[in-house]
Amino acid sequence: MIRIFFLFLSLAQLVSPFGKVSGVGINYGTLGNNLPSPKRVAQLLQSTLIDKVKIYDTNPDILEAFSNTGIDLIVAVENYHVSNISSSVPAADDWFAARIVPFIPATSIVAIAVGNEYLTNDDDDAKLDHNALVKAMQNLHQILVSRGLDRKIKVTTPHSMAVLASSFPPSSSTFAATLLPTMTEIVGFLADTGAPFMVNAYPYFAYRDNPGMVNIQYALLGNATGVRDPKGYTYTNMLDAQIDAVRSAIVALGFGNRTVEITVSESGWPSKGEAGETAATPDNAKTYVSRLIERAQSSKGTPMKPNEKVEIFVFSLFNENKKQGGASERNFGMFNSDGSQVYEVDLSCQFCSKNGDDNKMGFGEKVSGGIVRGPSVWCVAKPHADEKVIQAVLDFCCGPGGVDCREIYERGDCYQPDKLHAHASYAMNAYYQMHGRNYWNCDFKSTGLVTFSDPSYGKCRYSQQ
Ligand SMILES: *[C@@H]1O[C@H](CO)[C@@H](O)[C@H](O)[C@H]1NC(C)=O
Ligand SMILES: *[C@@H]1O[C@H](CO)[C@@H](O)[C@H](O)[C@H]1NC(C)=O
Ligand SMILES: *[C@@H]1O[C@H](CO)[C@@H](O)[C@H](O)[C@H]1NC(C)=O
Repeated sequence: MIRIFFLFLSLAQLVSPFGKVSGVGINYGTLGNNLPSPKRVAQLLQSTLIDKVKIYDTNPDILEAFSNTGIDLIVAVENYHVSNISSSVPAADDWFAARIVPFIPATSIVAIAVGNEYLTNDDDDAKLDHNALVKAMQNLHQILVSRGLDRKIKVTTPHSMAVLASSFPPSSSTFAATLLPTMTEIVGFLADTGAPFMVNAYPYFAYRDNPGMVNIQYALLGNATGVRDPKGYTYTNMLDAQIDAVRSAIVALGFGNRTVEITVSESGWPSKGEAGETAATPDNAKTYVSRLIERAQSSKGTPMKPNEKVEIFVFSLFNENKKQGGASERNFGMFNSDGSQVYEVDLSCQFCSKNGDDNKMGFGEKVSGGIVRGPSVWCVAKPHADEKVIQAVLDFCCGPGGVDCREIYERGDCYQPDKLHAHASYAMNAYYQMHGRNYWNCDFKSTGLVTFSDPSYGKCRYSQQ
């Protein structure tokens, strides 16, 4: 057991200098008039454990700044543009061609969030058509399929918790009755395309609105005295309960057998609020966000699915001084606009290259890149590499490495030849492509080899950037 653990550690060190297996994402909102340039933001994040960044539009400066950084981006269709994209497949293609195509593959775009909390949007000037959301998602997916990008780029939409009729007890939660037809279509779409269900979950607001009813430790991801669900689950924190409430609502739609992963697309805690918001303090924000990050890195799961890793995007990177709403809305950031931390959170990257260790956060340091660009290259297992090491590499790639290995499992297009060496090559290449084609991402304890000829055969396609 111990030996295996160390092998994993040393492998991770070799293949993952930027710690790209952390599973910690962040929301990068830009409603501030004093924020640093996207280039500096990209540099800052490269030296941290954050490996995914979600934005709220397709700001070309941001897309450009994150090229060749090894950081994955989730971009968004703004609510006001959803209807346009829903109108026809060519309209979706126009959007994709103008906003996305100029930046790929140098920028690693892994998902498109269509709208944000679209179904529960209460801006009265935008009377939003629920069917348009589904149609827009379908149109975009069709474009991705026709361009051969549907495996790399997933189409989804982030919801607020208000899509639920009730969230407690978690096991009996359902979607709001008026949303059932739309939710059925959306969840069906996500299951068909392998995209995650995204939910923005804020124990903070639940606590703020009912401080007498909610134990602060329960809201703060602490170890509160368990809250019991009639089905036998015990919840020690509200975020778990919220995630499982969404899970139950999905199962209640009748998709029980088909896997739809849940991603927490936003969660966070403000460091400051209006006079009455007594829990909005730097200390509480620090506690919540630190625990959230720890939790995102673990594969702890929730009481209903104990070992299923839940991807989490912290909200948010910066305090945004032009954000509307109460003071807390402008104070969810981990960073001030000058790049200093609002409160201390350890974002150092255990497996980062030298410059990542004992990093002092801030915008001062130089980050060296060394990313390989240029002609098509692939990564495969060396022909005579040791089988035991290759097996460990395969397990790493398909597990903590985050590679989608379905194609090399039975019935996948790359299952044949059913040889360790072939399966490992597929997984190593996927890992290498996903993580920016740095030479060190094809090292794998010296079992990997960079090649200029495409290893694809038959229906088995080896991905490339
Ligand atoms: C969609 O947006 C594009 C670009 O903004 C515009 O040219 C087009 O006319 C719009 N189409 C519809 C149906 O609104
Ligand atoms: C909760 O308790 C477990 C087990 O006692 C412990 O490992 C964990 O660190 C605690 N978590 C927090 C947030 O206090
Ligand atoms: C779920 O899968 C099992 C076994 O594959 C099958 O027997 C069952 O009918 C499925 N249930 C639903 C609701 O599709």
